[in-house]
Amino acid sequence: MQSISFIGAGRLGTTLAIALHRAGMPVTMIASRNPASAQQAVSGLEGCRAVTPEQAASADLVFLTVPDDEIAATAARLPWRAGQYVVHCSGASEVALLEPAARAGAITGGYHPLQIFSDPQRTLALLPGSTAGIEGPPALEQQLRLLAAKLEMVPMLLPPGSRALYHGGGLFAGTFLLSMLNEAVQAWSAFGISEEQTLRALLPVARGTLETGVAKGPAAALAGPVSRGDVKVVQRHLQALEKLSTEQADFYRQLAQRQLQLARKNGRLQAAQLDALQQLIDNKTPSA
Ligand SMILES: NC(=O)c1ccc[n+]([C@@H]2O[C@H](COP(=O)([O-])OP(=O)(O)OC[C@H]3O[C@@H](n4cnc5c(N)ncnc54)[C@H](OP(=O)(O)O)[C@@H]3O)[C@@H](O)[C@H]2O)c1
Repeated sequence: MQSISFIGAGRLGTTLAIALHRAGMPVTMIASRNPASAQQAVSGLEGCRAVTPEQAASADLVFLTVPDDEIAATAARLPWRAGQYVVHCSGASEVALLEPAARAGAITGGYHPLQIFSDPQRTLALLPGSTAGIEGPPALEQQLRLLAAKLEMVPMLLPPGSRALYHGGGLFAGTFLLSMLNEAVQAWSAFGISEEQTLRALLPVARGTLETGVAKGPAAALAGPVSRGDVKVVQRHLQALEKLSTEQADFYRQLAQRQLQLARKNGRLQAAQLDALQQLIDNKTPSA
């Protein structure tokens, strides 16, 4: 492969371009809607030029790194050629959005780096070991596996039609964690702890919970009041949260309900404890 280009110099495009360039891959062109963004993205990337989207579309491998809602329209207006590879980096959108390129004879697919791209330096350090969801016909799949290897990423083949579930499901362990952190920040702010203090205090336990959950599986790793059948602790939590915000208490109930499923699965609790927790979660007076 002689040339790799990016169309869409945003958070993902600029970071992935740097990563591939550092890995010795021929990143030769970057384009964007705003030429200044492309210009900024190529700075420091030797041998890489800021070009128009039409020029970038001529590369052997083109990454379409525009927002998901722009992929189809961008693919529809660019001049593609037979035999080149054209991929998008969306987790949720189907590869069929690249149909105009496929009609021109390009080989189309997806390369989704399963990582957060909001801080380039952090993301560059996080890419090794991260998964890349890949999709495409065998020749392209092989190229994308090669790219993943260069970036020390772990390739995972996505079956056609799976992307919405792959991406939507993954959010629970990805960006939704930020919403969980925010719940903690809101609760602790009520007794005067700053956001910064809360986040710093919770990082070790968040990390420990994730690492233990991954090592043992969510059910076996389960800890906390639901796992012990400590109904009165759950009750105190709910009373305190309800004073703060009904919404937050309801969200706690929903999560406790999901935890109860894990508790049923790991089999540590007696039926009476499970029933008492269920009643409390259902907003009924606990029998324990
Ligand atoms: N961010 C993440 O954490 C992440 C993770 C995995 C996958 N992805 C995927 O990566 C893709 C890009 O996401 P992103 O977060 O990098 O978005 P982004 O930061 O909004 O970057 C996209 C860039 O594309 C440019 N653009 C918009 N419309 C364009 C057009 N019609 N033609 C050419 N350039 C255009 C815009 O730059 P200018 O207007 O400045 O030119 C914009 O900054 C999406 O498919 C997303 O699903 C993102």
